[in-house]
This record gives sequence, C-alpha cells and structure tokens, in this order.
Amino acid sequence: MKTILITGASSGIGEALAIEWSKQKNISLILAARTRSALEKISGLCIANGAESFVMEMDLSNAASIDKAVIEINSRFPRIDIVVHNGGISQRSFAKDTTMDVYRRLMEVNFFGTVQLTRSLLPKMIENKSGQFVVVTSIVGKIGTPQRSGYAASKHALHGFFDSLRAEVCHDGIQVTIVCPGYVKTNLPFTALKADGSKHNQMDVTTANGIDPSVFAQKMIAAIEAKKEEVYIAGAREVMGIYLKRFFPRLLSKIVAKARVV
Ligand SMILES: NC(=O)c1ccc[n+]([C@@H]2O[C@H](COP(=O)([O-])OP(=O)(O)OC[C@H]3O[C@@H](n4cnc5c(N)ncnc54)[C@H](OP(=O)(O)O)[C@@H]3O)[C@@H](O)[C@H]2O)c1
Repeated sequence: MKTILITGASSGIGEALAIEWSKQKNISLILAARTRSALEKISGLCIANGAESFVMEMDLSNAASIDKAVIEINSRFPRIDIVVHNGGISQRSFAKDTTMDVYRRLMEVNFFGTVQLTRSLLPKMIENKSGQFVVVTSIVGKIGTPQRSGYAASKHALHGFFDSLRAEVCHDGIQVTIVCPGYVKTNLPFTALKADGSKHNQMDVTTANGIDPSVFAQKMIAAIEAKKEEVYIAGAREVMGIYLKRFFPRLLSKIVAKARVV
C-alpha cells in the first residue's frame, strides 16, 4: 500500500490528484485542507474508485492545526510514502499598494505552513529511510511577474528551501520533486489576495484558458513516479520563459513587463 498525503486536496489540482491516484491499485490517501465538507465529498469519490481515503482538517496558516494533524497522521500511519505540498493562495496586487499583512499571509500559508509540515514529518521519514516530498510551486516560482510580488516570493522561497533539503536528505533515501505549474483551470484566482487583503473573487482569462486539472494531475503523477527533481507542466510560452530567463534575461524582462497576468 502506498500512503500519500495531499495538502490543498479540497479543490483544483489537489482534488484532481486525489481522483487520478485513487484509480491506481493499493493507494491510501490522506486528504488535507480546511474545508471538511469538500474533502469528504472527494474522499467518497476516491473510495468509490477503490482507494483507501482519510480526511484531515489542516490550516496551513495555523501552527497548532498543523501540529494536531501531524500527531493524528503519525498515530494512524506507520509510513508516509509521498507528501504533496499543494495547498496555497495567490495574489492580485501591485507591490506599491500591497499591505505587509498580505505579504505575511502569503508567506504564512505558502511557505511557513509548508516548512512546518515538512519538519514535523521528516523525523519519521528519516527513520524509515524512505519517502518523497512533492512541492507545487509555480512558473512564478522561477520568474517574477506583475501583481504577484508576494506570491512569487513565497514560491521562490520554496525552491530555496527544498533544493537545500534535497541535498540534506538524499543520503536518507528521501527524494524531493518540485512541480512548477503554468496556468491550470482552477478556482485559485477567487481566493487570491488583493492589496488590502480582500479576495479577488473572480476568474481570470489566463486561468480560465489554463490546463485542465485532471490532465495536469496525470502529468504530475508521471513526473512524481519518475522521481524528477524539477518539472514544468505548462504551456509552451510559459516554459520558454524559464529558458529565456536563463539565457536571455533582459529579453525576458521586457516580455514579462508587457505580459497579461489576469
Ligand atoms: N491554478 C493555477 O493556475 C496554478 C498555477 C501555478 C501554481 N499553482 C499552485 O497550485 C496549488 C493548488 O492550487 P489550485 O490551483 O488547485 O487552487 P485552488 O483550487 O484554489 O486550491 C487551493 C487549495 O489550497 C487550500 N488552501 C488554501 N488556503 C489554505 C490554508 N490556509 N490552509 C490549508 N489549505 C489551504 C484550499 O483548501 P481550503 O480552502 O479548503 O483550505 C484548496 O484545497 C497552489 O499552491 C497554487 O499556488 C496553481
């Protein structure tokens, strides 16, 4: 039996991952997020597909909530094979307008929550000498774009943390896979924070035209199974941006300054 913990499993990419994995044999899923009702519905679909599935309420911005969930996970499951750090929120605001509270909330959910969960699960994984951390960052984790200064910072920070962690834990049989999505058609824009901390609460054209979440999840599972270190699952233009940044950074800066991001 392969035991997989997915954060942000109540919607979008996390939901699609759970459904796709539940179609495989011998899968035990732990579905984590704040919205229990959505998790229970998705968990029911996974069980109907033949997987074992458990629901775990967890707020990534609340240290006590993460601690409580980890105690329960460690008491129920002798081993976690894959941890997918997927829960997150985005941003729609210019740096000049954005409050410090918004920056702190983005870092709290996307970065500190993920780091705390990783640190809490790590001792048992090191003891077991096995496991894989999968981190969902973004193309914006490689390239900063307008109206995403805090979101891009939180995703860049994840690259730094998990590249360092990879070097530390590879000797313990633990792998790190960083997944950088381009636009995926999910509800992410609705919960994105505006300059004053209120929600954007609408869909964007870019996201509406993004990759279908179930297609994305299939590609992501293939990358995880291949134990890739870093993978870009995105449209050709978005992936090209990463290579332009590496080889022609000034050209990329000009393109990004004109890019449509909502
Ligand atoms: N969609 C895209 O175009 C895109 C592109 C690049 C990267 N990504 C990344 O993909 C990941 C998944 O996003 P998505 O597109 O699937 O969006 P989504 O449908 O809005 O899903 C976000 C998930 O994160 C969870 N979440 C939000 N705040 C949380 C908190 N404080 N504590 C725990 N869980 C929390 C949500 O669950 P609850 O609200 O129930 O807690 C939800 O399950 C994110 O990390 C996002 O940055 C998405």
